[in-house]
Amino acid sequence: MQKRTLGNSQLKISTLGLGSWAIGGDIGDWGWGTQSTRESIKVIHAALDQGINWIDTAPAYGLGNAEKVIAKALHQTHYTPFIFTKCGFRWNDGESELQPCLTKQSILQEVDSSLSRLNIECIDLYQIHSPNPSAQLEESWQTLADLQQAGKVRHIGVSNFSQPQLQRVQEIAPITSLQPPYSLLNRSIEQDVLPWCTENNIGVIHHSAMSHGLLTGTWSIERLNHLDKRDWRHKSNQFQQPEFDRIVEAVTKLKDLANSKQCQTAQLSLAWTLAHPATTGTIIGARTEKQLNQLLPATEVDITNQEMTIIEQLFQQ
Ligand SMILES: NC(=O)c1ccc[n+]([C@@H]2O[C@H](COP(=O)([O-])OP(=O)(O)OC[C@H]3O[C@@H](n4cnc5c(N)ncnc54)[C@H](OP(=O)(O)O)[C@@H]3O)[C@@H](O)[C@H]2O)c1
Repeated sequence: MQKRTLGNSQLKISTLGLGSWAIGGDIGDWGWGTQSTRESIKVIHAALDQGINWIDTAPAYGLGNAEKVIAKALHQTHYTPFIFTKCGFRWNDGESELQPCLTKQSILQEVDSSLSRLNIECIDLYQIHSPNPSAQLEESWQTLADLQQAGKVRHIGVSNFSQPQLQRVQEIAPITSLQPPYSLLNRSIEQDVLPWCTENNIGVIHHSAMSHGLLTGTWSIERLNHLDKRDWRHKSNQFQQPEFDRIVEAVTKLKDLANSKQCQTAQLSLAWTLAHPATTGTIIGARTEKQLNQLLPATEVDITNQEMTIIEQLFQQ
């Protein structure tokens, strides 16, 4: 798989990275329903076998479980992929609700917990999960810079930041990467965030590029009606009417175009994110080996200028 350099770092990352939110399992308020650890480990091994060299995770995914599953999977292989994890959401023992917190004291506890769960001595990329609470951004970013100096983390990045928030922390220490939401259904970063990242040599690794599965062409009202009661997507507007029908209608047309190009809808959706010049990589949230294998050919899909126009018109509001 092709590799690109992540921002100001020396990390050469594959253009697709493996996400681990769903791999965190059915733990906490933000799980994706039933997920077996065995299947999660199989996906991780298959991704590494096929050239993916980074895994994105967070303590918030399954209340620490995703990090533990990754450690278990890596213990069984010779691979040493780059590990990207995050800080900024806490939970109390015995409770499942996540609380945003970005104080220095909290981050210092979080980094040690992540290192222990992941069973590693240094995190390749440590990211602020969300700019929340915004008033704590300077304190939290300085803490990440100190952790980098101390050698607990190699590089530091942020996620879900606006352009003014990026600028605030860049004045304290250089940002290696941004992890924004970016998909055909969410292009809000194109105006100011992506140009600013390019100008400042900040790597961009997109999350939710398939809009939590909606842009794979596998959704129907029947499927929605049978969605696991414990799946967090019940809380998402996009998985509710009238939004859901509007999206499925546009995705059906995207599927026709994908068929004419002899690729799959999910591959075309991912290829569209990879085609943006500011993109370093895209995270794929595969939760089975079969899904992973369907997604990987996205790196081979070329989109012509004419197709680009057609695709983008399908999703105009
Ligand atoms: N920084 C942040 O705030 C943030 C937020 C969100 C995500 N992320 C990161 O980005 C990763 C990916 O984002 P995401 O999980 O939200 O969404 P995504 O990658 O847009 O979608 C993932 C979901 O799509 C479905 N899927 C995957 N491959 C498929 C295929 N071949 N055919 C049909 N359906 C398929 C799976 O769910 P079903 O099979 O159940 O439909 C899977 O859980 C996460 O794992 C996480 O590492 C970060």
